[in-house]
Amino acid sequence: MSYHSANNQNYSTQNLAEADGNHGYISPLNEKPKGRSTSKWIKFGIPIAILVIIAVVVGAVVGVKENKKKTNSSPAAQSSAAAAASSSSVNAAIEELATGKFAAATNSLYMVPIFPQTDTAVFVSPTFASSAKASLTWPTDTFSAATPAVTSVRPDRPRLIAPQYKWDVLSDHIANDPYLSYWNETIIGNATTWYNDDPIQYVYDGGNGILDPARRFKQRAKAFSYAYRMTNDTKWVNRLWTEIQNVAGNYTVSFGPDFDKWDSIHFLDTAEFSAGYGIAYDWLYDVWTPDQRESMRFTLIEYGLSFGIQASTNGSIGWWRTDTTGNWNCVCNGGLTLAALAILGDDTTGTAAQILSLTVPNALANCAAGPTDDGTWSETMDYWYFGTTGYAEMTSALITATGSDYGMLNSAYQLTGYSHMYGWGLTQLFAVGDTGPNKFSSTANGMFFFSSQFNDPIPALYQREQADAADPWSMFWYDASVQGAFWDGLPLDRAFDNEIDQWVSMRSTWTNINGTRIMTFDCGDFVIDAMGHRWAGELGDGDYNAHSYFSQRQHRSSARWYYYRKMTEGQNTILVNKENQNVLAAPKNLGLRTVYNVSSGSTAYWYADITSAYFSDTSSLHRGMRFINDRTQFLVQDEITTTSPFMWRMHTNATVDISSNGTAATLTIDGDEMIVSILSPSSGATFTKSDAVRFDSDPIPPEADQPNDGVTVLFSPQWNDGTDSVTPPSVDLANWSLTSHNT
Ligand SMILES: *[C@@H]1O[C@H](CO)[C@@H](O)[C@H](O)[C@H]1NC(C)=O
Ligand SMILES: *[C@@H]1O[C@H](CO)[C@@H](O)[C@H](O)[C@H]1NC(C)=O
Ligand SMILES: *[C@@H]1O[C@H](CO)[C@@H](O)[C@H](O)[C@H]1NC(C)=O
Ligand SMILES: *[C@@H]1O[C@H](CO)[C@@H](O)[C@H](O)[C@H]1NC(C)=O
Ligand SMILES: *[C@@H]1O[C@H](CO)[C@@H](O)[C@H](O)[C@H]1NC(C)=O
Ligand SMILES: *[C@@H]1O[C@H](CO)[C@@H](O)[C@H](O)[C@H]1NC(C)=O
Ligand SMILES: *[C@@H]1O[C@H](CO)[C@@H](O)[C@H](O)[C@H]1NC(C)=O
Ligand SMILES: *[C@@H]1O[C@H](CO)[C@@H](O)[C@H](O)[C@H]1NC(C)=O
Ligand SMILES: *[C@@H]1O[C@H](CO)[C@@H](O)[C@H](O)[C@H]1NC(C)=O
Ligand SMILES: *[C@@H]1O[C@H](CO)[C@@H](O)[C@H](O)[C@H]1NC(C)=O
Repeated sequence: MSYHSANNQNYSTQNLAEADGNHGYISPLNEKPKGRSTSKWIKFGIPIAILVIIAVVVGAVVGVKENKKKTNSSPAAQSSAAAAASSSSVNAAIEELATGKFAAATNSLYMVPIFPQTDTAVFVSPTFASSAKASLTWPTDTFSAATPAVTSVRPDRPRLIAPQYKWDVLSDHIANDPYLSYWNETIIGNATTWYNDDPIQYVYDGGNGILDPARRFKQRAKAFSYAYRMTNDTKWVNRLWTEIQNVAGNYTVSFGPDFDKWDSIHFLDTAEFSAGYGIAYDWLYDVWTPDQRESMRFTLIEYGLSFGIQASTNGSIGWWRTDTTGNWNCVCNGGLTLAALAILGDDTTGTAAQILSLTVPNALANCAAGPTDDGTWSETMDYWYFGTTGYAEMTSALITATGSDYGMLNSAYQLTGYSHMYGWGLTQLFAVGDTGPNKFSSTANGMFFFSSQFNDPIPALYQREQADAADPWSMFWYDASVQGAFWDGLPLDRAFDNEIDQWVSMRSTWTNINGTRIMTFDCGDFVIDAMGHRWAGELGDGDYNAHSYFSQRQHRSSARWYYYRKMTEGQNTILVNKENQNVLAAPKNLGLRTVYNVSSGSTAYWYADITSAYFSDTSSLHRGMRFINDRTQFLVQDEITTTSPFMWRMHTNATVDISSNGTAATLTIDGDEMIVSILSPSSGATFTKSDAVRFDSDPIPPEADQPNDGVTVLFSPQWNDGTDSVTPPSVDLANWSLTSHNT
């Protein structure tokens, strides 16, 4: 396994992150966070150390100290246990069947897979269709188009995503693959729950329209169609027909206004309803009566596709057509495409063909650029789910229905699964920027599709362990002949270095939730995971409906940047003069260096010149972060030249106990402790704690900040050297190397 291999990588990157906690490319809201009034989040802030010093090195060691009562072992010890386990040679395919899925459980809050550390021998290197699994390879599609055209569809049904030749072998694959078997059961279990629920209710939700009902409808259309085709039980068809009637306004309760039931002004809703109709129409094509099909086509055109055509000329409903990199473009074009492909040939109005002439070129010009060339979603990690789901659905349906992807599968989508894998920490997602919305039928399962299309087993091996993998799409996108462990040979560290994203993730392990991980992004912001907890985190999104929350991000004076969660002071970075960073900053990433060898001298570091995020009172500001002591401790070092007062700030959910002289703070979460100490300067810098609220002197935003409840902020110094920690030598950033901090 890869813990045995040395894997040196050098990344030399050019940096342009946006200042403050967001990228500059977030499109208007997708969906607001649910139930914000009942949020149980408790946030503590530790804006630390008000320092009024010129040209000094400010270092803080964040040391991981194991709680003696617990059984957490350090990354080095974790690594040698795993290495010992891997020494037994096994037939991976047989073992995998015997043990079932690799991941044994999840941490239930964020559903991070928990891998049994003693069973890590049960794998081989990632591969498709090794001899042991060759029988699980999909048959070859007999349909192919010599000259593909979007309006020239395969002769048989289904044509969307799940052609008959795959259904023909699916039961056999299910019987021989523990993942497929688990997903099949889960999907039918979920369908059974929904079967017993009432039809979807029309609930209009402010700025998010009826997106939740639309996504629920699509989820049910997929699950009920799947359940029928797997069981031949017509109860699923009848139940789906009720939902179809319901969202057409033809059921016993009313559903929305007469002429625009699917809410075209918030076009995501229209698109998701249309997708659900398309799937139901196509997957159950042979089961519907001709009258049912005609009714479905009528309603789909009436409330979906006709608005799709209007969207091409009416900017109020079709603004997303010029939204070059947003998830909206992917979801809207995707839903319309699925629906149009489904009724093509039966539709006598020409609407479906016209839709396809609009959606495919538009998605190629926009959604195709959703990820930057390093694979990072341009609207942050959470919107990746919506964007890649829409894109994978659309591309997959075009391939199965017409025999071509028309160039949709570009190299950015080949890499995009990796941004997701590295973006997840050991305990939860990297919750940067605006994050919160419900996913419903948006998942990370596009990774299965991209994996198969690009013949790269790793993203599929990663995703099959995840809680959201049980989804009808997975049954057809996942190639069950895949085998191995995604982490085998996968570097622990990676720099995503497109000039508009710029972020770095470094970790001690891919499989042990108790390992260490640091991630940094934007201008110096970072999150830290260790011992199964997040110690330094982000506050997440504010209230999407708050006044001017989505005001122009590229302007420093935008009201958005007056909300605490979006201000520089609400991030884990250096705050100079209590001023927001420059939103037009172009920081220079000075590089990630890494040695992938946890058991011996393993480290990684990254540093950047973020001077341009500050103003003329700051002539230089460099921040570096690294692992020391075999990835059991973190060092954050800042070199600041400024004439203004500044603060080193970090937000944590931990309980904070500051030492009497203020140079150290003990953070405690669930009995585990992290000691944060100031190594330099040796005097004059202290930790303080306070609530995560704005300074009295800050500009007032149009509406109140989100409460950041129970927050504590530190205001006095101290030091520590935990028994398991070392104190590294003081080394200027310019002289950092992979060995500069060995003790
Ligand atoms: C990695 O660690 C192993 C011992 O576990 C050692 O044999 C090997 O030389 C190390 N490689 C590097 C590059 O440090
Ligand atoms: C992680 O730490 C917890 C708490 O000490 C422990 O119960 C669990 O077994 C550990 N998990 C692993 C994989 O070491
Ligand atoms: C799929 O799951 C359902 C529900 O558990 C089960 O009845 C069915 O046999 C499964 N299909 C296969 C092919 O195993
Ligand atoms: C589907 O079923 C699984 C297993 O029972 C459950 O954990 C999951 O929450 C369900 N999903 C939905 C969307 O209800
Ligand atoms: C469902 O019906 C089809 C067509 O008659 C048949 O091939 C298939 O085996 C049936 N599936 C089940 C689970 O009964
Ligand atoms: C809903 O009712 C309208 C009016 O009777 C009809 O035109 C349409 O086809 C129906 N749609 C469905 C899906 O039943
Ligand atoms: C554009 O669509 C909106 C929302 O449906 C509608 O109110 C408006 O009249 C339309 N504008 C034009 C020019 O059709
Ligand atoms: C605090 O915990 C919540 C819930 O787990 C999380 O979403 C948030 O990011 C955490 N905040 C910090 C500052 O770590
Ligand atoms: C702060 O107190 C710690 C012990 O609590 C001590 O080790 C350290 O030297 C003190 N630092 C200063 C600057 O006095
Ligand atoms: C870096 O190290 C070199 C010697 O290796 C030394 O001459 C130089 O002063 C150091 N630079 C800084 C900024 O400390």
